[in-house]
Amino acid sequence: MNDDSPIIIVNLKAYEEGYGADGYDLCKIMEEIALEHNVNLAAAVSAIDLVDFSDNLDIPIFAQHVDGVTYGSHTGAILPEAVRYSGAVGTLVNHAECQMTWEEIEKTINRCKELGLSTVLCTADIEASEKGAKLNPDMIAVEPPELIGGDISVSTAKPEIISNTVEVVKKINTEISVLCGAGVKNQEDISKAISLGSEGILLASGVVKSPEPRKVLLDLIKGL
Ligand code: G3P
Repeated sequence: MNDDSPIIIVNLKAYEEGYGADGYDLCKIMEEIALEHNVNLAAAVSAIDLVDFSDNLDIPIFAQHVDGVTYGSHTGAILPEAVRYSGAVGTLVNHAECQMTWEEIEKTINRCKELGLSTVLCTADIEASEKGAKLNPDMIAVEPPELIGGDISVSTAKPEIISNTVEVVKKINTEISVLCGAGVKNQEDISKAISLGSEGILLASGVVKSPEPRKVLLDLIKGL
């Protein structure tokens, strides 16, 4: 993985095509493309698949969520230590489909920092991006919730949310990488986002739900 180049993180969510053997095959395609074209591709996968995918794939694997807890009586919690033990490099935090309170977000980011897990804080707008930047996650991915899963990309529908998020976040901490997502489907969506200052893309349906994910990914990386 090249630290200075933009990254595409594919979130496998809980799609039928995104877990177990099918999810693995999709990540294998991502691995092949990443190696062959020297691009940064990563996957955010089901907690159940973290160990298998991390052990057997040569792309960074992220969790989709962790809980900001420490050892103890937290039945059902996704323990940050267990995520690190699984081999994952980091986690999404506060995805629009798995929202947390600001208190939980802060705890989670801090717990992940203690353990060396990278954090991708998902935010819905510029205001939340600014507030989140003060918690110093490694990345902030701004995704207007109403565009998630749709056909119009954030870079087409709301370009200003990308450039303004870059501006407010970098004012607080230049080390935080700003990503964006929602509705991203092709290389134009990505190149536009990059030209607006985005350092990467978080996307899901355009790749995971596609009958031809390899073709889509090969198109997407041309926008990087
Ligand atoms: O986590 C990525 C995401 O919420 C965007 O989803 O389907 O619009 O690419 P999608």
